[in-house]
Amino acid sequence: MLNRVLYYYKKEKKLLTYFLVSSFIVTALDLYGPIIVQDLIDLAIPSKDLDKFFTYSLVLLILYVFRFVISLYSSSRGQLMGNKIKFFMREDLFEKILKQPDSFFKERQSGDLISRVTNDLENVSSLLYRGLEDCLFSVLSIVGALVLMLKFNTKLTVITMIPLPFAIYFTIYKNKKLKVGYVDIRKNMSRVTSSVHDTLKTIFFIKDNSLEKEKFKRFSSDNEKLLEVEKKNVFNLSSLMSGINFYNQITQLIVIFLGGYLHIKGEISLGVIVSFILLTNRFRIYILRLIGLADIFQRGLSGIQRFSEIMEISKENDGSNILSDEITSIKISNLSHSYGDKNVLKDLSLEIKKGEKVAFVGESGVGKTTIFSLLKSSLLAQEKTIFINGKCIRTIKRESFLKRVGIVDQNEHLMNESVLENLKIIDRETGTEKLEEAMRLSYLKDVVDSLENKENTRLGEGGVSLSSGQKQRIAIARLFLKSPDIVLLDEGTSALDNILERKIMDNITNYFKDKIIISIAHRLNTLKNFDKIVVLGQEGVLEVGNFNELLEKKGLFFKMYSDNDKV
Ligand SMILES: Nc1ncnc2c1ncn2[C@@H]1O[C@H](COP(=O)(O)OP(=O)(O)OP(=O)(O)O)[C@@H](O)[C@H]1O
Ligand SMILES: [Mg+2]
Repeated sequence: MLNRVLYYYKKEKKLLTYFLVSSFIVTALDLYGPIIVQDLIDLAIPSKDLDKFFTYSLVLLILYVFRFVISLYSSSRGQLMGNKIKFFMREDLFEKILKQPDSFFKERQSGDLISRVTNDLENVSSLLYRGLEDCLFSVLSIVGALVLMLKFNTKLTVITMIPLPFAIYFTIYKNKKLKVGYVDIRKNMSRVTSSVHDTLKTIFFIKDNSLEKEKFKRFSSDNEKLLEVEKKNVFNLSSLMSGINFYNQITQLIVIFLGGYLHIKGEISLGVIVSFILLTNRFRIYILRLIGLADIFQRGLSGIQRFSEIMEISKENDGSNILSDEITSIKISNLSHSYGDKNVLKDLSLEIKKGEKVAFVGESGVGKTTIFSLLKSSLLAQEKTIFINGKCIRTIKRESFLKRVGIVDQNEHLMNESVLENLKIIDRETGTEKLEEAMRLSYLKDVVDSLENKENTRLGEGGVSLSSGQKQRIAIARLFLKSPDIVLLDEGTSALDNILERKIMDNITNYFKDKIIISIAHRLNTLKNFDKIVVLGQEGVLEVGNFNELLEKKGLFFKMYSDNDKV
């Protein structure tokens, strides 16, 4: 974890240096002030020498102005450094998140991930800037002030310091409690964020079913839990602050009482008493900053911990062979899969060659989508069960494989951008001609022509909403733009009406006639000119054949067809 922090400091070492040097100067000036004040009171005032008096006052004024300018510079450098580090960390984290496999996103709530990229990094940034400043310079100021005080008067210093160990013990004790509290707050905060996110994601379902009250109740209970844990921390934080103020007043009382006594006895001057008060006041400021530091530390460290947690996830299991040739064959050999103890696929074997169209059919839940997940490597297939061009899929670099696969499925796939952006995401270099062709083949052209700003119309939030069939046509247009070697359709045309479905399926099968098409479809009519239809059941493959062969068999496929499509 420390290495990770050092890495980002190193990246910004120039700003770090400016920041540290200027902060050091500010600290030195802060300590020099009380020395001049002492001289002003002990030398200039008693001698009634106005020249001296004005000179010392002017020096003090210049010192304060100079301190003001340098501290302005120091805090601007520090903040900029913090912001830049935050920027790099955010980029690294988001890049890492994007690289994670599907399972990562299934296991985590998006609210939690969002707060890792936003809130957490704010806290890390203030730790790396404010935390560093307070840590180094508060300690330096305290030590410096102590040395000065000892130089003025040892007895007064020692007695003034008596309450300090109690203050320190009290601070550490309270900090421990605060730390536990902050972890709790963070957990509950992320629950609230997730709850809002989840509600917004399903808002139309909630409204359609009048579930607002139910959702609000859940939110409210999370919100209340958050308030409860915050309450605990409020008490600890305020008792800490009041405790430190009390410490400061007691210390000042000691200085005035004992200092006055020593002055009457002729041991110290009035200037020393005033300097002592100024220095112990610095003590209060820096001890308070050290307490603030505890807060900054707790939040920042937990942010770094949560940042590292993701950054340290070992690289996902990826092959090293780059697939550079066209995909001409897929061989599935004794492929089985289980989710935990639940077996969903059993001994599936199949070979698909370039130019072939294959379909999987079977009742809901038999594992059709699972086959696709294994094929596109979002689920890890067992060794030597899936071969692409004769090579085990696990040895192939995923990116080089997925570049050659086009997928239309039921997952959310539209971004809140224009139609054009939604298409061009597939290939930035796509020319107008290819775009026009893709839109024509997917029958997207009619949809786009009916929109106010044509292909520049924004979709989604704040833009035009499309029907499910129109959305699906965007996904199909992307397929033509990508020109993949393997086309995977998981109910890819299910939202279209029968006529449009047939037309678009014809376009797909014609356009990709030399490629591999694998389809999962409930409407069996769309599979008439498929080369191979695999009927799956809980026990594995039940029937294989083309459309007519399977009908002639009068088996399960025949029954499914008679029950559904024939009508
Ligand atoms: N991530 C998962 N974790 C655990 N079980 C899962 C997971 N994904 C799917 N399953 C289970 O595996 C079985 C097969 O799911 P799959 O999505 O492959 O079915 P399907 O044949 O595509 O069904 P449908 O026709 O309804 O789309 C189901 O019983 C499902 O509950
Ligand atoms: Mg499915």
